Amino acid sequence: MDKPIRAAITGLGATVPEKVLTNADLEKIIDTSDEWITTRTGIRERRIVSDGESTLDLAVQASRNALDDAGITDPSELDLIICHTVTPEIPFPATACLIQKALGSSGTAAFDISAACSGFIYALTIGQKFIETGTCRKVLVVAADTLSRFTDYTDRSSCILFGDGAGAVVLEASERSDRGVMYTVLHADGNGWDFIHVPAGGSRTPASRETVDNHGHFIKMRGRDVYKFAVAKMQWLLGDCMEKCNLTPDDVDLVVPHQVNIRIIESAAKKYDFPMEKVYVNIDRFGNTSGASIPLAMEEARRNGKIGPGSTILVIAFGAGLTWAGAVIKM
Ligand code: UT7
Repeated sequence: MDKPIRAAITGLGATVPEKVLTNADLEKIIDTSDEWITTRTGIRERRIVSDGESTLDLAVQASRNALDDAGITDPSELDLIICHTVTPEIPFPATACLIQKALGSSGTAAFDISAACSGFIYALTIGQKFIETGTCRKVLVVAADTLSRFTDYTDRSSCILFGDGAGAVVLEASERSDRGVMYTVLHADGNGWDFIHVPAGGSRTPASRETVDNHGHFIKMRGRDVYKFAVAKMQWLLGDCMEKCNLTPDDVDLVVPHQVNIRIIESAAKKYDFPMEKVYVNIDRFGNTSGASIPLAMEEARRNGKIGPGSTILVIAFGAGLTWAGAVIKM
């Protein structure tokens, strides 16, 4: 009998823009303080795109880094490119098609998905299924967002949170049973669609002078409601991933949570007695970069020697939709 095929991560890449937006910078434009932001969120600074930069630029750079890491010199070897973004280059066509053009892999299937901060895990799961069913051998999964383009810098309750970035992984078919994406779980509850949303710019409320005047193209967020839901779901995800894969905290090398708010991350870790040394946190330097936050943190964790070949990592995320998702990965 044929051995089951697993989706192994053979390449990992990430990038952030150069421009830094610190809490001190925000103090100059809204009524806030470094102390309030740091205590309530754990964020000290974030990276944001400059004029002329875009989601596509970040996505392509992260993709190139992941392809280099996988040792793929000819991108046309890719069977599929999946891009998660809620901040696409343009409304359509898919940002994935523009990534494909930039990489020079004409003919490779390409599409976008949208699952907000859970988007990387959603995209990873789709890529995993394409590989496990034997449909594809090599898949590029990219998560790229420029939330700063949709951030209302007059709204102090949300603008402190968001940063920009991109991360990517190459998934390849492997017959090794001890390596790859071992488990994924995806959920959504559309009843909470308005907890975090952008009201205008779609087919119901297209762009108009009024939508611009009313700040309708910016993120609206019910922060307290999001917070409560996030705590519950991040805790649940950690428990579910360990239970379904028969793991205890001792078996896990690193938890890489969506970098949403240090208090939300700590509450999930505390519930299962995960020491914070086993939980990767870089929210202080990058803020909430939506779907990019997990691959960005994974790449940094590997560079810092926190994970390497053979490591068992748990990734968990929560975001607009509402969506929540988790995965267990053997590097
Ligand atoms: O991917 C998902 C993205 N969304 C999130 O991650 C949001 C999750 N929610 C949160 O992280 C937190 O709810 C926030 C950080 C957004 C807010 O923290 P909080 O502890 O829930 O504060 P709050 O909204 O209950 O506000 C407390 C006070 C209020 O003042 P009053 O009414 O008590 O006088 C706010 O007006 O803090 C005030 N406030 C601020 N003060 C200084 C709100 N934003 C700020 C600010 N600086 N930036």
